[in-house]
Amino acid sequence: MRAPSARDVAAGEVLLSVERVSLAFGGVRALVEVSFDIRKGEIRAIIGPNGAGKTSMLNVINGFYQPQDGQIIFRGAARRKMRPYEAASGGIARTFQNVALFKGMTALDNIMAGRSLKMHRGLVWQLVRYGPALAEEVEHRKRVEEIIDFLEIAAIRKTPVGRLPYGLQKRVELGRALAMEPDLLLLDEPMAGMNLEEKEDMSRFITAPRSR
Ligand SMILES: Nc1ncnc2c1ncn2[C@@H]1O[C@H](COP(=O)(O)OP(=O)(O)OP(=O)(O)O)[C@@H](O)[C@H]1O
Ligand SMILES: [Mg+2]
Repeated sequence: MRAPSARDVAAGEVLLSVERVSLAFGGVRALVEVSFDIRKGEIRAIIGPNGAGKTSMLNVINGFYQPQDGQIIFRGAARRKMRPYEAASGGIARTFQNVALFKGMTALDNIMAGRSLKMHRGLVWQLVRYGPALAEEVEHRKRVEEIIDFLEIAAIRKTPVGRLPYGLQKRVELGRALAMEPDLLLLDEPMAGMNLEEKEDMSRFITAPRSR
């Protein structure tokens, strides 16, 4: 569901441009004429004190909030209005400041849920698990297992995420976002509440060389 003029972007080219974006909630000016570019393959951080507008910025990028002013250019196409599901299917994935997983489902199933946008066969085909749908599911499971290996969470793959410590929940949430194979991955406070070892692990996963 890419915008008609959206195009593929090569490594090193500008993927996202935020141009003079302003967002206010009533009298509260959360973002005032914010501009920056992100190139494909780059890792960038937004820092600032509580209430500085970090989460608001991510919410604008993935369509949760509509800015009153300014524009977002993603893959060369300008857009003012976009719904979160359009952002997701267009290649923007994210994690949340407060972990947002299906708590009763296993780590494996949560990460598999991240693949749903990539599933081409309809729900009926997926339910009967026959022919092309079965082949597709096998391929998705293979990708999910690769992510589980990469994040070193094989031991907890069958554990309901609600029972996992916070640091591991954050890791599963990263896994679900990675399962979408996004071009742009937005992580909101990926290390908040973690101990030193968990932070070191998370840094390793974030900075690991990517295949794309
Ligand atoms: N949905 C909302 N309705 C009203 N005000 C909001 C809303 N979301 C954010 N704000 C306000 O916008 C400002 C920026 O908040 P935001 O959550 O983006 O900051 P933050 O940098 O992510 O903070 P934190 O470090 O606490 O996560 C704050 O003053 C906040 O109260
Ligand atoms: Mg925040």
